[in-house]
Amino acid sequence: MASLKGKDILHGNQFSKKDIDGILKVAAGFEKELKAKGALNLLKGKILATLFFEPSTRTRLSFETAMQRLGGGVISMASAESSSAAKGETLADTAKTVAQYADAIVIRHPRLGSAKEAADAVPIPVLNAGDGAGQHPTQALLDIYTIYRERGSLKDLQISLVGDLKNGRTVHALVEILSLYGARMYFVSPGLLQMPEEITSGLRSKGIEIVETEDLAYAASQTDLLYLTRIQKERFSDLAEYERVKGSYVVDAKFLAALKKDIILLHPLPRVDEIHPEVDAYPGAAYFRQVRNGVFIRMAILAMIFGKR
Ligand code: NCD
Repeated sequence: MASLKGKDILHGNQFSKKDIDGILKVAAGFEKELKAKGALNLLKGKILATLFFEPSTRTRLSFETAMQRLGGGVISMASAESSSAAKGETLADTAKTVAQYADAIVIRHPRLGSAKEAADAVPIPVLNAGDGAGQHPTQALLDIYTIYRERGSLKDLQISLVGDLKNGRTVHALVEILSLYGARMYFVSPGLLQMPEEITSGLRSKGIEIVETEDLAYAASQTDLLYLTRIQKERFSDLAEYERVKGSYVVDAKFLAALKKDIILLHPLPRVDEIHPEVDAYPGAAYFRQVRNGVFIRMAILAMIFGKR
């Protein structure tokens, strides 16, 4: 496995299968260790800065949890309005400033390519927690960890990715990682929200089998994993268009009853109406376990970029 020490985490395509297997192993180790000890001292004295220019609940809090469980400290900028970005400071200048305080930066920003811009401006590791409709690689890592934990293996994966595949950065990152395992993928979306052509053709050129369809029931009947996503309202310039596609796919108890018995349901959250809360009690509803797994995966990433694993 290539070492992640000192590395930026910017894109789902930056990892080899060996890298992923290594990260999953470290995450599983932390999951066990945390259960036994509650907290660790591995990153004592290190400081992580979280810079979020867009809303977040899970990503920011799980990075902060992960850093603190490892004994490190966190400084945080929770909104664009509360920082000097509101006074017109460039992202590069903000990043250079934060690099005077912290040992690594987690950034979420509405602009495509923003994490790379920040990474290019500073010598410390930058972790992309979402750059517009671009990438969200640490989410993809926690997704693949969840799939591994739920299924017990990453062999013979058949997965339906559902919803806003055009704007959803979690799926953009996840398909890169799934492709390393030769997963067969069903892309389920309204015509307007299809997976970008360059991503689909890139996957096909690697020999990945992809079926594009608008029919969720059909795709679900062919796969053992359903990864649902929210229609990304904030990426629409025309809200009338959003109104036309919102609520396209809803999994409720009735729909669930018609699905394969052991199907596993994933969602990066937040959900709007894609999964009815009545589905939460279904044993295969893995999305809150997925949230929890985010801590173990982010502990692994942090320990590794600081060269402690
Ligand atoms: C996602 C995001 O921000 O891209 N949230 C997350 O990190 N779990 C998904 C979304 O906002 O729909």
